[in-house]
Amino acid sequence: MSDFTSNFWSVYVAGITLAGILGCLALLWFSGKTKAMTHTDNTTGHVWDGDLREMNNPLPRWWVGLFIITCVFSLIYLYLYPGLGSYQGSLKWTQTGQFEREVERGNEQVAPIYAGFAGKSIEALSKDPQAMAIGDRLFMNNCAQCHGSDARGSKGFPNLTDDNWTWGGTPEQIHETITKGRMAIMTPMGAAVGSSDDIRNLANYVMSLSNGPHDSVRANLGKSKFTVCAACHGADGKGNQALGAPNLTRGIFIYGPAVESHVADMIANGRTGVMPAWESKFTPEQLNVLTAYVWGRGGGVAPAPAAAAPAAPAAAASADRASVAVEGGVVSFFFATGKSDVAADADKALAEVVAGVKAGKKVQVSGFVDSTGDAAQNAELAKQRAFAVRDQLKALGIAEDKIDLKEPKNIDAGAGAQARRVEVSLV
Ligand code: HEC
Ligand code: HEC
Repeated sequence: MSDFTSNFWSVYVAGITLAGILGCLALLWFSGKTKAMTHTDNTTGHVWDGDLREMNNPLPRWWVGLFIITCVFSLIYLYLYPGLGSYQGSLKWTQTGQFEREVERGNEQVAPIYAGFAGKSIEALSKDPQAMAIGDRLFMNNCAQCHGSDARGSKGFPNLTDDNWTWGGTPEQIHETITKGRMAIMTPMGAAVGSSDDIRNLANYVMSLSNGPHDSVRANLGKSKFTVCAACHGADGKGNQALGAPNLTRGIFIYGPAVESHVADMIANGRTGVMPAWESKFTPEQLNVLTAYVWGRGGGVAPAPAAAAPAAPAAAASADRASVAVEGGVVSFFFATGKSDVAADADKALAEVVAGVKAGKKVQVSGFVDSTGDAAQNAELAKQRAFAVRDQLKALGIAEDKIDLKEPKNIDAGAGAQARRVEVSLV
């Protein structure tokens, strides 16, 4: 138990402690021998102001009694508990032992709560207020220092509330990320790309993928170099979740501003981002609650089989996240509260619209908002959402002059997720 290699210090410390206590007792015994006497024959000889004499009386009995009790108490204490050098005390009490007993007791108390979560899907858990309250606490204590208390991340740490997932946003993928941890390795690619001019050109090409600020002449020159990046980021730059290579077409960069110099720096120096593994720290139930908490923060992607079936508008709009639905030739884009991110599967839903434009029709795009919040802000949001959808259409090859942005007469379409939409129709 002792931190020292020899016993000497333990004996030394114990000796001083015991000698101190015994010394106190001896002093008490010694000073108790003098008897209280009358005030004349027991003065020290010190006199002040002609009348004030200093007496040499013994300590009061009650005070001595208390003092002896403290000494006896400390001897008993030192026999029962650790305190004398490396002697562990007859009760073998330790701080870690007490801590572990308290943790065990705490776990026993929450066990019934977690038992109620057993067998629930991640989606069901994400709608359970009790599970989400626990998830919030777990997140604040373990994840917020990196991902931020609002889970929106910061430089070097991804935002967990958007639908831009490096490692995938289905419940299974998020669970895997949290449980096993992730390591994203981008090796320095400078040598493979060429001169610093080549790197700049390529960086401009990468910026052009998300339509960020770039020099289009350089971007064209750099395009052919992207083949060395395609192995990980994909030929279209949309990333590879199995490798943790991020999507470069969305203008979301966790390591720096969306500018050419940041991309050039990434190409030259690479990076290794590490998300720690949490398997050993949490119980399986806690890992499920954390997964549900992250998944339910707005960016979660539906589990694979459910995504294949075209969702009905009401169902698609029920969760607070971006989604798309097609009904009667009108494509409705739903949005998460306060956001203008277009759902990931938008392209599929727009296939009919694209075909219609090819056949000579025009597209009309109108944005609606729900009635909560500031009206001016809502109007701006409706516009941003309409723009986001327009960009999506342009990305699918529809010319801008075929897209008609039309402000609806009444952009406030009532309450709820159904109202937060952009409608796309052929005219
Ligand atoms: C020490 C800092 C740190 C802590 C603590 C941390 N993370 Fe992370 N996390 C990261 C980093 C860095 C990444 C990005 C890894 C990469 O480069 O792809 C990440 C990625 C993730 C991702 C994947 C995001 C995506 O786009 O696919 C999820 C989900 C996640 N973290 C959840 C959590 C949860 C839940 C906790 C708490 C249990 C947590 N993290 C705690 C640093 C941290
Ligand atoms: C070996 C696979 C691999 C190759 C090849 C690769 N990357 Fe990456 N790249 C990654 C990974 C993994 C990350 C994420 C690193 C992290 O999170 O720490 C990344 C991150 C990036 C980022 C940063 C994104 C951000 O959020 O800030 C940029 C930009 C980038 N890569 C561009 C490129 C370009 C351009 C090339 C071609 C020269 C390239 N990458 C080649 C795997 C690769």
